[in-house]
Amino acid sequence: MVVSLTRDADIAIVTIDNPPVNAVGLAVRQGLWDAVERTEADETIRAVVLACAGRTFIAGADVTEFDQAPVAPHLPDLLLLIERATKPWVAAVHGTALGGGLETAMACHHRIMDAGAKLGLPEVTLGVIPGAGGTVRLPRLVAAETALQMITTGKPISASEAVQAGLADAVAVQDVLAEAIDLARTAPAPTPLLDRAAQAPTDPVLWDAAAAKILKKAAGQTAPKAAVQALRNAYEMDAQAALAAERETFLTLRSAPQSAALRHIFFAERATARVDRIKGVAPRPLNRIGIIGGGTMGAGIAAACLLSGYSVQMIERDADAAEAGKARVSGTLDGSLKRGLISTEQHDSMTRAFAASDSYSALGDTDLVIEAVFEDMEVKKKVFAQIEAAVGPDAIIATNTSYLDVNEIAASTGTPSRVVGLHFFSPAHIMKLLEIVVPDGVSDQTLATAVAFAKSLRKIPVLAGVCDGFIANRIMSAYRREAEYMIEDGALPWEVDAAMVGFGLPMGIFQMGDLAGLDISWAMRKRQAATRDPAERYVEIGDKLCEMGRFGRKTGRGYYLYEDGSKGTPDPEVEALILAESARKGIDRQPMTAEEIMRRILGAMQAEGRKILAEGIARSADDIDVVMVNAYGFPRWRGGPMYMAGSTDG
Ligand code: NAI
Repeated sequence: MVVSLTRDADIAIVTIDNPPVNAVGLAVRQGLWDAVERTEADETIRAVVLACAGRTFIAGADVTEFDQAPVAPHLPDLLLLIERATKPWVAAVHGTALGGGLETAMACHHRIMDAGAKLGLPEVTLGVIPGAGGTVRLPRLVAAETALQMITTGKPISASEAVQAGLADAVAVQDVLAEAIDLARTAPAPTPLLDRAAQAPTDPVLWDAAAAKILKKAAGQTAPKAAVQALRNAYEMDAQAALAAERETFLTLRSAPQSAALRHIFFAERATARVDRIKGVAPRPLNRIGIIGGGTMGAGIAAACLLSGYSVQMIERDADAAEAGKARVSGTLDGSLKRGLISTEQHDSMTRAFAASDSYSALGDTDLVIEAVFEDMEVKKKVFAQIEAAVGPDAIIATNTSYLDVNEIAASTGTPSRVVGLHFFSPAHIMKLLEIVVPDGVSDQTLATAVAFAKSLRKIPVLAGVCDGFIANRIMSAYRREAEYMIEDGALPWEVDAAMVGFGLPMGIFQMGDLAGLDISWAMRKRQAATRDPAERYVEIGDKLCEMGRFGRKTGRGYYLYEDGSKGTPDPEVEALILAESARKGIDRQPMTAEEIMRRILGAMQAEGRKILAEGIARSADDIDVVMVNAYGFPRWRGGPMYMAGSTDG
């Protein structure tokens, strides 16, 4: 039975048991419908408690139903039935009540929360808006500002925040079900929420400004805009009209391309960790993590580990560098505390779980060591030898290299089976993606441990083969190359950047270069010069900018001009250099539209993606999409470059 009905004296307990997350699919809706009818008809029942078995309350709609025509009983009708019941319904919420789950809880007359429970309406992240009264009921419970934030960003709130906001009655002191039953015993005759007025914005000007800010951030996406309109409807229309409008919008958005693309990524992200090779292989338990290097990446990785409950031993070159690394990590933990992401107790215990030293002997009791020192093969090999000498025979050793040959690093050790690549993205404690680079000799257990470790950090693991740049950086190199060709062929850097920002990327490639420092890639190109194929097209503009001392933001000039802290403006000097380069090469410059620029860049990304697939560097086109969406901000609502090419395999 997906929905069962038990009794505690005169209280009916309706329990949903639909693993894994009690999604409110057809069987659940039908079961709840029957439960309302039975409890309404039974005179010996005073009130009803709605609870869920397993690890969570209803965590959302059944996403697999999205592609099918809606089947009755529909959730909006069911929720009206619950809300109009003559007996009080009390939701006992544990885990997460998301989307249709929160909508169901809101249709109940009371909500008691487990202390760790979370409530949210994440529909916009799947390209839709709540479709069962969420946008109409939420503003009848909470302030307009809270409703706006929750519905347009999809971010869940905690149990205590929910009580404070008026979304829940109370946080359970001990047992959420028992306390919900207690409440049901004394709950007054219910009044339907929809009969109440919505709490219109106290300051409409401020509310409009907040909405405008959210919509600016969500440029190109239809769902957040529709969510704002749905909320306006809730304030301006009567409840029935607002409900009807919400449902119509929901159904339209559900069958639109953006929702399909977002669902594609949703499922693709869940599939990356399913690796046949490690099925049934037990990962090595990890407690203490060693990190070599306390620079940008080492400090970020250390913070990521601490924030996920590991103890961390950092190793730096000397005492001063160890102190500097420690300060970087403390800065991140302090920032997390300030933003309310961790409590003071958590902050203090994380600080206690962290140590930095200049002696490799401190690595003795670590289970996994991640190297994040300079990007130099000889330095890395030396560091790996020192790690091997210091750790136990079972400890796993990983490198965070961006481009170097992980097979070569592994082969330099005595035990290549325990060497793996863990390629984090910056800032490492925030970015969701972790490329797991799989060298030839790696053991299944090492690989299984790497995947489990990524999940424990709440990151998305994507397996990548050994090559120059793995998946993300290889596709970004193809993008950069194409962008450079285009500025020789007729576009200007700011035109290319504007086209791609218009496409939905957070920043243009030339803006990114200026931010990172053009000298870094210049140095790399100089190293590669000897092995470069002379027949390959090579754009010298980047080198010439560096020769002029234009290293990007840090020198006030790069592809753009940065005057008085500006975000970068087009520079006639750069334009002149580019025109001269085209002329020198005899290129007849042709102007390009934003659409042409976008098509060429997308085409270059897709071509590189196909090569990556053919070489077996990525396991699937879906994995490539997951990488691009999570590494460099490829617009999620477009589904990823491979999805756009129609070559998905998911
Ligand atoms: P960084 O220059 O900020 O930090 C490197 C740190 O390693 C320095 O603090 C240095 O003192 C330390 N170090 C050097 N030799 C050492 C040794 N023998 N023992 C102990 N510590 C030593 O460099 P960053 O940016 O953190 O990069 C580190 C690695 O991560 C590189 O391999 C890089 O390619 C890779 N990476 C960098 C990303 C980025 O966005 N910066 C992204 C992903 C990977």
